[in-house]
Amino acid sequence: MSRREPPRRAGMAAAAALRALAGAAIVASVSAGSATANGAFAAGPPPAATAFRPPPETAIPAGPLGREIRLGETIFRHTGTAAPHFVGNDLRCSNCHLDGGRLAGAAPLWAAWVAFPAYRSKTHQVNTFGERLQGCFHYSMNGTPPPLGSPVLVALEAYSAWLAHGAPTGARLAGRGYPHLPKPAAAPDYARGAAVFRQHCAFCHGADGQGRRAGGQVVFPPLWGDRSYNWGAGMTSIANAAGFIKANMPLGLGGSLTDRQAWDVAAFVDGHERPQDPRFTGSVAQTRAKFHASPYSMYGLTVAGHLLGAPAPK
Ligand code: HEC
Ligand code: HEC
Repeated sequence: MSRREPPRRAGMAAAAALRALAGAAIVASVSAGSATANGAFAAGPPPAATAFRPPPETAIPAGPLGREIRLGETIFRHTGTAAPHFVGNDLRCSNCHLDGGRLAGAAPLWAAWVAFPAYRSKTHQVNTFGERLQGCFHYSMNGTPPPLGSPVLVALEAYSAWLAHGAPTGARLAGRGYPHLPKPAAAPDYARGAAVFRQHCAFCHGADGQGRRAGGQVVFPPLWGDRSYNWGAGMTSIANAAGFIKANMPLGLGGSLTDRQAWDVAAFVDGHERPQDPRFTGSVAQTRAKFHASPYSMYGLTVAGHLLGAPAPK
């Protein structure tokens, strides 16, 4: 799906929503002295150099464990074809965890493996690694999570554990997750984000953000709409999206956007409609209060004249 929005009105309504967003906490918590004279942040450092390197492909062992590791890698890179029952959109795990889950600064699997079980504020529970994988199926892949202990999860666990071979257990490894950008000096701006998008992103992801296909294959993934991640996904936090984008996008030119451009384009991407949050309570306001009570979530805000989260695309 894609909504047509009159550009001028879109800009104004979005500006109001994002001012509200900034007023809440983003701007309030900016520490003095971190902004430059014109209010922009200096470009952040490149993704942390990591001390840990996952083993090369050639080190995958022979035998049953090796087969399981390879299956996990195939599922991670070709999720929709290798695990079709559990995927509800056009994404693959490796679209957001780049280089098959190896790349530091793109939420690499090796850094995650050594960090679980862990308490997660999202679930208010200590979750196992398998449960964490289920979360990305549920939200990022807009799908049905494979059961714990099922072949798909076991293969993904084998692949993740193998990538972490030799890493210290329980350590917070450099390169984990996406980089945290300094809080923006000015509220992220949807209209400025639209301009960044046209200049730096539309070429691959399409002017309508729906990505591109060639020969029945998704070559550039959709950023919003009914084939993208749903409103429960981590990427709907503009802090996560800005960190991911700053480090990794435009693909091959990670680190080239300013922090401000990354925040603005993150607000633009996450200021569009996408599949409903699976935790939807029946009311957008109540769902925002319960699961999106964060200045980084745009769910339940009115952007470009549209209340995000309602109505949900099919
Ligand atoms: C739309 C982007 C997206 C897709 C697709 C996606 N993920 Fe994620 N994933 C995220 C985000 C965002 C996080 C949270 C990162 C953070 O907290 O810094 C995350 C976190 C994780 C983590 C925990 C990382 C850590 O260090 O704690 C694992 C493991 C993971 N994903 C596995 C998967 C698997 C397996 C798939 C495919 C079934 C998948 N992801 C698909 C965006 C995505
Ligand atoms: C040169 C082509 C190219 C450009 C330009 C580009 N991307 Fe991407 N983007 C990709 C590809 C390819 C992937 C998936 C990466 C993979 O699977 O290895 C991706 C993945 C993503 C994802 C995670 C997956 C999803 O669908 O949500 C986001 C978010 C994203 N890009 C945002 C952006 C933004 C914002 C810009 C502009 C600042 C941008 N990209 C520019 C090619 C590009």
